[in-house]
Amino acid sequence: MAELLQGWKRTHYCAQPGAAQVGEEVLLMGWADSWRNLGSLVFIGLRDRTGVMQITFQESELSAEVFELAKTIRNEYTLAVKGILRRRDEKMVNKNMATGAYELQAKELKILGVASTPPIYVQDDLDAAEQVRLKYRYLDLRRPCMQHNIILRDKVAHVTRNYFAEQGFLEIETPILCKSTPEGARDYLVPSRVHPGEFYALPQSPQQYKQLLMVSGFDRYMQIARCFRDEDLRADRQPEFTQIDLEMSFVDRDDVLEVNEGFISRLLKETLNYDVPLPLRRITWQSAMDRYGSDKPDTRYGLELQDVSEAIKGSEFGMFADALAGGGSVRCINVKGGADKFPRKKLDELAEVAKTYRAKALLWMSLKEDGLQCSFAKFLSEAQIAEVQRLAGAQQGDLLLFVADAKNSVVYASLGALRQEVAKRLGLIDPQCIDLLWVVDFPLLEYDEEEGRFMAMHHPFTSPMDEDIDYMDTDPGRVRAKAYDMVMNGNEIGGGSIRIHSPELQEKMFETLGFTKEEAWRRFGFLMEAFKYGTPPHGGLAYGLDRLVMLITGASSIRDVIAFPKVQNASCLMTDAPDVVDQKQLDELHLALKE
Ligand code: AMO
Repeated sequence: MAELLQGWKRTHYCAQPGAAQVGEEVLLMGWADSWRNLGSLVFIGLRDRTGVMQITFQESELSAEVFELAKTIRNEYTLAVKGILRRRDEKMVNKNMATGAYELQAKELKILGVASTPPIYVQDDLDAAEQVRLKYRYLDLRRPCMQHNIILRDKVAHVTRNYFAEQGFLEIETPILCKSTPEGARDYLVPSRVHPGEFYALPQSPQQYKQLLMVSGFDRYMQIARCFRDEDLRADRQPEFTQIDLEMSFVDRDDVLEVNEGFISRLLKETLNYDVPLPLRRITWQSAMDRYGSDKPDTRYGLELQDVSEAIKGSEFGMFADALAGGGSVRCINVKGGADKFPRKKLDELAEVAKTYRAKALLWMSLKEDGLQCSFAKFLSEAQIAEVQRLAGAQQGDLLLFVADAKNSVVYASLGALRQEVAKRLGLIDPQCIDLLWVVDFPLLEYDEEEGRFMAMHHPFTSPMDEDIDYMDTDPGRVRAKAYDMVMNGNEIGGGSIRIHSPELQEKMFETLGFTKEEAWRRFGFLMEAFKYGTPPHGGLAYGLDRLVMLITGASSIRDVIAFPKVQNASCLMTDAPDVVDQKQLDELHLALKE
């Protein structure tokens, strides 16, 4: 039977008592992390969120009742223990425990809750499948590494609020039940009971609200905001996630970047004691793509892309000729000293990586000790081979990996992914290194083949660069945006832009995106209407809080820094959400299910 507290009050958390409490009475509460019964002595490791304290129950010092009770303790029982703090004998000191120099000599004990045998071990080195961990998430979260992640997440939120408050930002909440204004991902919809056939959407981000708050004159807004996107999930994506969302009035791009550099350096100092060298490097989107094949480049290692299209021009090799004729390119990366590290089988594995990014094939040139190995060498002249090698900076022992395609996007994506794969396999990434940069000058629009129209690369409220506005009519693909992303170790941790603040330009943007005037007004009329009443130039940014915490803790998935995450198919294994509902609920919402 579980006992009641009956006035017992905790004096300390488990890892708190130290030199100052030696010889004093201490009352701790927590979970049995371990138990050992040595006959006349019972040892219990008592755990709470601060750590573990060893409790000693000595038969000779206790009433029979208390000692018998101590012998019944098993893992994960919740306990309250009153005792005297003692220094351990020199030879009993446990250097692996923060509290290893002390123990609590128990005097009284209450078993506050008994525990069934837990389905997973509450310890860091756990080899249980993630499904089991997520089904019993409340136990999984007891593990010290998970407690560390969640506690660090709290710290990130605190540093964030403190920093932005000092900078004059106001925290303002925005609605969760919104109007569906598609921004890129699919909306989560909520049926309205009061308005049959109508739906709210959950916000993909508070984008339009924060802009309206600028129209209202709040000048600087921040919010730790929940966002919802019904999209395919990955290790760094959840259907509901958290943003550190910001907006500022009367600013230009550099003002926004400066405030955010101050933020990231404060955050990494206070969480990791890491000094970020400021200002952060800036790289244009075009050069990020050309050099790294990615708009979120990991620049902790080299393996830069090299365009060799000029050098191989005129080659009859079908793949090269087709790529160039179709307006694409042939590019390569140089894996220094890689000739002997990637035998045929491993090259085939790399080719598979390239193919997932729609590359037709991975071509290679291996500069081995005993001569050149290259499947397409016979289609190139010696001068061409020499020029390719010169451009790639190739030397004996190097391995060049090529992708050719009529679509540069395929060449970039596949070589960008190969860079990462090769760097991982060769251990080129220094885990201590933190690499932060801005990617700037994104294109405003990208052409969507499936939809057959231009789409906003960030969102439709992003301002074009002043000098490119005229191209919106003549050459939309060429227009650059006043947009920026912050990238950390190859992850997009935040993104934002200076916004359009003139109703005419906003209307023009919707037109460029293929909306009719009526449709644009039906969907976004409230914003364009607001812009008619005096709108300050404004801009902002949003960080993915989960991603930031993932990178700071070194977790490999954002699931490990979210208390109750969803799995790949967007379900919650602990509660079984989503779930069917009663017919009565459907009726109230005027919904009928399709067979
Ligand atoms: P964006 O869509 O780039 O911008 O989102 C901002 C940041 O949020 C994180 N993020 C995600 N994290 C986890 N799971 C997801 N599904 C997910 N999607 C995005 C990323 C990303 O950099 N309103 C704009 C911001 C602005 O313009 O101010 C916006 O939402 O780290």
